[in-house]
Amino acid sequence: MSLLIKNGKITTATDQYVADILCEGETITAIGHNLPAPSGAEVIDASGKYVFPGFIDPHVHIYLPFMGTFAKDDYDSASRAALVGGTTTLIEMCCPSRQEDALEGFNLWMSKAEGISACDFTFHMSVSRFDAKTEEQLRQIVKRGISSFKIFLAYKDFFGLNDTELFNALKLAKELGVIVTAHCENETLVSELQKQLIGEGKTGPEWHEPSRPVRVEAEGVHHLMTFAEETGAHVYIVHTSNSDAIWAAAAARQRGVHVWIETVAPYLVLDETYAQKPNFDGAKYVMSPPLRAKRHQDAIWNALASRMVSTIATDHAPFDFKGQKEMGRGDFTKIPNGIPSVEDRVNLVYTYGVKRGRIDLHTFVDACSTQSAKLFGLFPRKGTIALGSDADLVIYDPDYRGKISAKAQQMNVDYSAFEGWELEGKPTTVTVRGKVQVRDGKFVGELGHGQFLKRQPTHF
Ligand code: URP
Ligand code: ZN
Ligand code: ZN
Repeated sequence: MSLLIKNGKITTATDQYVADILCEGETITAIGHNLPAPSGAEVIDASGKYVFPGFIDPHVHIYLPFMGTFAKDDYDSASRAALVGGTTTLIEMCCPSRQEDALEGFNLWMSKAEGISACDFTFHMSVSRFDAKTEEQLRQIVKRGISSFKIFLAYKDFFGLNDTELFNALKLAKELGVIVTAHCENETLVSELQKQLIGEGKTGPEWHEPSRPVRVEAEGVHHLMTFAEETGAHVYIVHTSNSDAIWAAAAARQRGVHVWIETVAPYLVLDETYAQKPNFDGAKYVMSPPLRAKRHQDAIWNALASRMVSTIATDHAPFDFKGQKEMGRGDFTKIPNGIPSVEDRVNLVYTYGVKRGRIDLHTFVDACSTQSAKLFGLFPRKGTIALGSDADLVIYDPDYRGKISAKAQQMNVDYSAFEGWELEGKPTTVTVRGKVQVRDGKFVGELGHGQFLKRQPTHF
């Protein structure tokens, strides 16, 4: 089956030009002017539209047992949501708890995705405990095509590693050439501040941020930087929410630490006042690290524009308001942490980043696709439009005008954190390895078309 996309404005992290793209089978086989359509090819006219490389979300949670409940999506709903939002590859956090076995966890997470996902996928493998058995299993998991780990410096006794484990996990990563993604918050400070606030009767969602202030996150980053410096491991800080944390990483980068920084869409467009909404509505906006004061948004946009922040993910973690977020009425520490946004990331960053002049189109593509491909061993198969690359393409209509609404979303969650927000662009057609999975903005694809992406370590 071949597909010819004609006259689109091809836009990558580095280039922009009008041309045709021929996809044969799963790959891009020609880019040029006036390309003839092979017999039987589907021809799509992309005049007046952008053609972007498929977007990559490098930080999502789909199967997630967490805080006494489970995240609401499965690969059916999450991959459909990703695709209508322009995301063609998901990197999910595979997160067995400290009490669980790493290899069993990996097999379990894989079974939730394989044969179901409509988009391509891979995992960051959590190291939630480090002992001889886990080390052996991690070596096996890397051989099976995983080239990134995940560690938590937060969530004491559930996912969190102690410092001896952290040191040994980083040493192993360095030996194997695996990059380590890290949730950085000082877990002792979080748990002591939570106890203090609850003891003072401060129980609503608005107290979530004060229980995990900016300096608690910056301290977590600084702590990780020290360990990365000692071990030489390459590290990637997930969901960075504020300028102090960015500066802690930037200072380490100046010292030669191999560190990259991710932010997530919610921090770019929401601030702490959302978690202060009355009648417990703020619970919809509880995630960790928390939404911050508005001034941090400017700092993160600027750090993206200067490329100090490499990637924009979502940290998609969907919990219903009814029955799940409500578990934390009367005690904010029991509100399941997470904001769903896998469907909205690309459109939010385009509308509120590119269209508002905060970042340019190339930075948008770089942060939402290319950098993740490069950092996580997927480039140039993913993350660009080039001969031989996978035909993962997003035809994007910059003239679309519409609003976000929970009623219309594919994500299996009962609210949208962005209800009623205006959008000024949207994917019309989305392909995954040459197959049209979204047409006219609607999912028309096949579940199970998504493949597990085997990756080789690249961080030696
Ligand atoms: O609030 C969040 N971020 N929920 C998902 C788990 C995590 O820490 O990434
Ligand atoms: Zn996290
Ligand atoms: Zn996360």
